[in-house]
Amino acid sequence: LRHLTTLENLPRECIERLLDRAITMRDACAHGTRKLDLLTGRTILNLFFEPSTRTRTSFELAARRLGADVINFDIGFSSTAKGEELFDTLHTLEAMHLDAIIVRHKVSGTPDELVKHAMSGVSVVNAGDGNRAHPTQGLLDALTIRQHRPDFSKLIVVICGDVKHSRVARSDVHAFTKLGAKEIRLCGPAALMPEAEELPSCTFYESFDEAVEGADVAIMLRLQKERMASIDLPDEAAYFREYGLDTRRLAKAARGCLVMHPGPINRGVEIAPEVADGPQSRILEQVGNGVFVRMAVLAEMLAR
Ligand code: CP
Repeated sequence: LRHLTTLENLPRECIERLLDRAITMRDACAHGTRKLDLLTGRTILNLFFEPSTRTRTSFELAARRLGADVINFDIGFSSTAKGEELFDTLHTLEAMHLDAIIVRHKVSGTPDELVKHAMSGVSVVNAGDGNRAHPTQGLLDALTIRQHRPDFSKLIVVICGDVKHSRVARSDVHAFTKLGAKEIRLCGPAALMPEAEELPSCTFYESFDEAVEGADVAIMLRLQKERMASIDLPDEAAYFREYGLDTRRLAKAARGCLVMHPGPINRGVEIAPEVADGPQSRILEQVGNGVFVRMAVLAEMLAR
């Protein structure tokens, strides 16, 4: 693995190898290993042009646990604020001999542009680009499901909410499809759904009551208001009535349905607090798995 910008073209074996490696990382950490030395002498840069809590922190933690040096680039106090163009910033940072750049950007395709324009051998990892891809989230969601439901061929997954603007939904669909999921249902108001041709392995629903019926996994998405300039924002209370996951709807899903959310969650908008904090919630487990998946990705790319 040289770069990771999307899961779309990654073979199933590669996805499975990364998930297996994440488990190895988890077990090493569970046995008290706070630091491995797989990436000693490597330097990794977090280059986030959009806000992040989970992804940025877990990449930093992952890199440090593998023994790498980490730089958290502060966009607000960088020369980006003085008008420096993205590729000039890239080349400037490359001149400092980095091994990997973890990039998040609002423009879809930016990580691939960095791969094309990079002049050194730097690896690029996509930490979320526009509505296109969030590959490590797709991997950590697959890992979380696999820990509870190892046989994807029996799985019905429903992904509900603002699917149109969701890079998480796209990477989840790519991961779950590769792993052989039985059925992936996408659900949301028509204005917040992608074109069916874009995700041909999925079935599309407008009614969440129908979509959640018999589901083994329910992945809830927040309304991405920051990407909705041209769409009338749904009234939050009305949205929750139609698309919120509450205990009544969860009871329609398969027994023990896993409740997931990439975060940040908006309580009372796409998910009821008692469901987000309830016994079926795997939301914090997803966060923990993010560190192990990111350790696996960085080790796969950079370990000597
Ligand atoms: N899931 C996710 O990408 O969360 P952050 O925006 O907090 O990184």
